[in-house]
Amino acid sequence: MKALAILIGVVLVVALAGGVFIGSGIYDIGADSPHWQVTERVLTMLRKRSVQTRAEQIAAPDLDDPRLIADGAEHYAAMCVGCHLAPGIENSEIRTGLYPKPPVLSEARELKPGNAFWIIKHGIKMSAMPAWGATHDDDSIWAMVAFVHKMPDMTPDQYRELTANKEEEGGHEHGHHQHEHGAQDRSQENTVDADNKRTQDQDHRAAKDLLAAGAAPEAEAVVQAFHNALARGDRTAALAMLADDAKINEDGETQDRANYAEGHLAADIAFLKNAQVKLLSRVSARAGDRAQVASASAIHATARGKPVALRSDESMELRQSGGAWHIVMIRWSSQPLSDVP
Ligand code: HEC
Repeated sequence: MKALAILIGVVLVVALAGGVFIGSGIYDIGADSPHWQVTERVLTMLRKRSVQTRAEQIAAPDLDDPRLIADGAEHYAAMCVGCHLAPGIENSEIRTGLYPKPPVLSEARELKPGNAFWIIKHGIKMSAMPAWGATHDDDSIWAMVAFVHKMPDMTPDQYRELTANKEEEGGHEHGHHQHEHGAQDRSQENTVDADNKRTQDQDHRAAKDLLAAGAAPEAEAVVQAFHNALARGDRTAALAMLADDAKINEDGETQDRANYAEGHLAADIAFLKNAQVKLLSRVSARAGDRAQVASASAIHATARGKPVALRSDESMELRQSGGAWHIVMIRWSSQPLSDVP
C-alpha cells in the first residue's frame, strides 16, 4: 500500500512539474533550437517502431517498371525535391531551415519500400513531412516509391533527363519528328500530340537506362525472334509470339492483336523488307512472370522513293505462361536519326 502511495505521489509531482514547465513558456519550440540528445533518441525510436509496425504487411508491386519510375519522377520533381534534394541538387533554401531535416533520399539506400510507402502516404507528425495520401492514390504513391528506390543509383544526368521535360511543361516545342515504321504520314495537326508522346517516350527511355542489360534473356530472345519473323515476312510466326490480349502502340495509337494482324503488320513487313536495322541497345528486367525489354535501333530504309534514317525506340512487355514468353504490349516510336543528339 505504501509503495502505491509513493508511486501516486511521484506521478503527481512529475505531472505538476510538467504542467509548470509547459505553462512557464521555458521550452524553446523554435526549429532552430535542436532537441536534447535523449529527446532525439526517443523520437527516432518512436518513429521507427511506429512505421515498422504499420508497414510490415504492405506488399510492393514491381518497382522496376519503367512507367512507374517515370511517373514517380514527375511527382518527385514537382513535390519532393525542395525538401529531399536529388542527384545534382545539393541544397535548397527550404531544407536549410527545416527541423527535423528531411533526409537526402538519394542516399537512403536502406529504406524499405513498404516503409517508404507508408511514410509518403501518411506523413510524419510534428515534422514537415506531409501525408500525400490525402491528395494521391496508392498507384501514384507506389510510383514515388519506385522512383525514390532508384535514386541512389542515379547520376545527376539521369535525374535531369527523367525530370527535365516536366519543368518545360506548358507546351514548348520539342522539334519535329515523323512517323516510323513506314507506311503512314503524320500530318501537321498531329504535331502537338506527337510532341507530348515523345516527351513520355523520353521519360520511359531514361527510366529504362536504369535497367540491366540481359536481365531477362528468355524474354529478349522472344523479342529478337519477333523481329526476325517480321524481317523475313513470316506473319504466322510473328503473330504466334503475340499474346491473345496483346496491345500494339505505334506512335501513340493503340491497336489490339486482331487490328494489328489486319492492318499495320503488313505495313511493317513491307517497310522492313528493304530496311537495314541496326540494334543500338537492348536492356531488360524481369519480375516474376513479367518482363520488360527496351530496345533502340537505327533504321535505314526507303519510303516513297526517298531514303529515310530513323531512330526507333521500342518497349515490350512480356508475360510467361506454360513455360513460354508472349508479348503483351509493344510501344514503338521513332524520330529522324538526324534529330537525335
Ligand atoms: C516540406 C518538406 C517535405 C516535403 C515537401 C516532402 N518531405 Fe518527405 N520528409 C520530410 C521530413 C522532415 C522527413 C523526416 C521526418 C522525420 O524524420 O521525422 C521526411 C521523411 C520522408 C521519408 C522517410 C525517409 C527515411 O529515411 O525514413 C520519405 C520516404 C519521404 N519523406 C518521401 C517524400 C516524398 C516522396 C515526397 C514528395 C511527394 C516528400 N517526402 C515531400 C519533409 C518533406
